[in-house]
Amino acid sequence: MIAKGLKGIVAAETTISHIDGNEGRLVYRGYEIGDITSRYSFEETSYLLWYGVFPDDKQVKHLTSELKKNRSLSTHMKNVIDQLPKDMDMMSVIRTAVSAEGSSAYGWKPDVTQAIRLTALLPSIIAYRNSQLEGKSFVEPSDEFDHVENYLYMLKGERPSKAHVQALETYMILTLEHGMNASTFSARVTASTESDMVSAVTSAVGTMKGPLHGGAPSGVINLLDEIAADGSAEAVIRRKLKNGEKLMGFGHRVYKTHDPRAIALKAKLQGLVGSDEWLDLAIEVEEKAVELLAEFKPGRSLYTNVEFYAAAIMKAISMESTLFTPTFTASRVVGWTAHVLEQAEDNTIYRPQSDYIGKFVKHSAIQS
Ligand code: ACO
Repeated sequence: MIAKGLKGIVAAETTISHIDGNEGRLVYRGYEIGDITSRYSFEETSYLLWYGVFPDDKQVKHLTSELKKNRSLSTHMKNVIDQLPKDMDMMSVIRTAVSAEGSSAYGWKPDVTQAIRLTALLPSIIAYRNSQLEGKSFVEPSDEFDHVENYLYMLKGERPSKAHVQALETYMILTLEHGMNASTFSARVTASTESDMVSAVTSAVGTMKGPLHGGAPSGVINLLDEIAADGSAEAVIRRKLKNGEKLMGFGHRVYKTHDPRAIALKAKLQGLVGSDEWLDLAIEVEEKAVELLAEFKPGRSLYTNVEFYAAAIMKAISMESTLFTPTFTASRVVGWTAHVLEQAEDNTIYRPQSDYIGKFVKHSAIQS
């Protein structure tokens, strides 16, 4: 029997994260995601994923300072990005830039300093390219700011508001890691050949780029825009469901109940941005859509997924939609690198088999 897409196949044991689609649980290293976002920072959660335990004060200070030290783009990296055609999409730019980071410093076995370096570099790569596309000069990273705040600072060129930083930080923590998804698997396959950390992350970025994985949160933005223009959530949603269209930001392959990331994101957003017009609209649309989905698709258990509130967050902090998937990448690099480290600890090369269904040609047939 063939497991197309390796559906249902368990390919590794992991202690990094656990997903329970029926219960709506996402757990990092034993801790429920909702508990993490309400208490810990990007740096502390990354430490948890890499080392398996939360850091003490000294350890988090050290990690924060290492991330700061590794943020600057080398002249070589800037030159590589400068040479890329202006119409190259951001995910291809990230893939190329990450690949250009490869050097003899990244041999087998991978280690956590390499994970920190790549995590520190990604926001700078995105912001550098973004400044080029906007025809503005690049805002160099500032040691004044921690990881997420600095990312927004580089993108906006000014100190971001605390509410915006916390909203983005919550989103990034929630998307740091999600089990054996396609890009994580891709990173582990590359690492399993005893290739290096940069190659594994380059593979993962290439995998993340595909719309079936990196997602299209712009679909949610389009839905919200359409509803805002029409003025009636009920009318637009009813029309779409009658036409057999899918509502972007609803439903999930694994979660058959509420996506815990959507719940955590919504809770944080409500506490932070209060009466933001996009958040208010998103909440109204969620309520109406869940009601109408139950009417049109009874028994299918359709609720918001992480993309829905990710789009609302991005709107609330005025992040361009071209930066949605790159920002997802800037957080997921932590999960990828944690998996590469885990793979390296007990490595077996991934080598599944395929079932040949082609023909067999007799030698005599070739000669004639
Ligand atoms: N709107 C309307 N109906 C839906 C939706 C939706 N968003 N999602 C599922 N359904 C319906 C399907 O039409 C199907 O109905 P049927 O039984 O009458 O045929 C039923 O619910 C089951 O749907 P499937 O597509 O079979 O569910 P599956 O688990 O395969 O798909 C998926 C999950 C792809 C996420 C789907 O829900 C979807 O397309 N959602 C919209 C796109 C989206 O938001 N994607 C982001 C996912 S989150 C992420 O990738 C990080």
